Amino acid sequence: MSHIIAPSILSANFLALENDVKMINNSQAGWLHVDVMDGVFVPNISFGMNIVKQIKKVSSKPLDVHLMIVNPDQYLEEFKRAGANILTVHHEACTHLHRTLNGIRNLDMKTGVALNPHTPISVLEDIILETDVVCLMSVNPGFGGQSFIENTYQKIEQLKELIYKRGTSTSIEVDGGVNIGNYKKLLACGADVLVAGNTVFSAEDPAAMINNLAQPVLNYTTV
Ligand code: DX5
Ligand code: ZN
Repeated sequence: MSHIIAPSILSANFLALENDVKMINNSQAGWLHVDVMDGVFVPNISFGMNIVKQIKKVSSKPLDVHLMIVNPDQYLEEFKRAGANILTVHHEACTHLHRTLNGIRNLDMKTGVALNPHTPISVLEDIILETDVVCLMSVNPGFGGQSFIENTYQKIEQLKELIYKRGTSTSIEVDGGVNIGNYKKLLACGADVLVAGNTVFSAEDPAAMINNLAQPVLNYTTV
């Protein structure tokens, strides 16, 4: 299976959001990544379900909604109604993660679990069967444009092993600091989905950047 690029709308031009969503529609992006921040779980506030609903009206790509909020259980139905296809919650924000993921599946969305950089892969051992996507945070969540944390490579490999052992079809998503210099190595380690915000939206031609990142990588060798 080839990999998926999920441009993050957090770095888009909010005064012309429709144009950026359409640009993504016309690119080789697989998903559209939507970051919801509450100012409590993370030290920043982005936007809520009303904006997600507006994006959904224009987007032809599946919406990959990343909830950086406390008490996500309270809002699962609202995000379903807003048009989320994949709904990701943070492991660190869920006391009853099994219940939360079942709630997401019962609403016919794909389940995502995000791990902060300090959270080990081992916490997923008893929840991997319920998880369609693991989102490995490769920056501390809250802001776009931060530098990639190198420890992520070994976490991808550990997660790959866990998925293999349990025989699940869980996808590995990497979120934060993905750029033209590290994406090939991330894919070689086993990443299936790459989120890219700043790298896409600071490019002279954002659609060409998405298409570039989406090209299959054949022979990657570390130097
Ligand atoms: C960070 C968000 C990311 C962010 C990625 O808290 O979860 O999705 O938009 O942005 P870049 O690619 O700029 O690091
Ligand atoms: Zn995100």
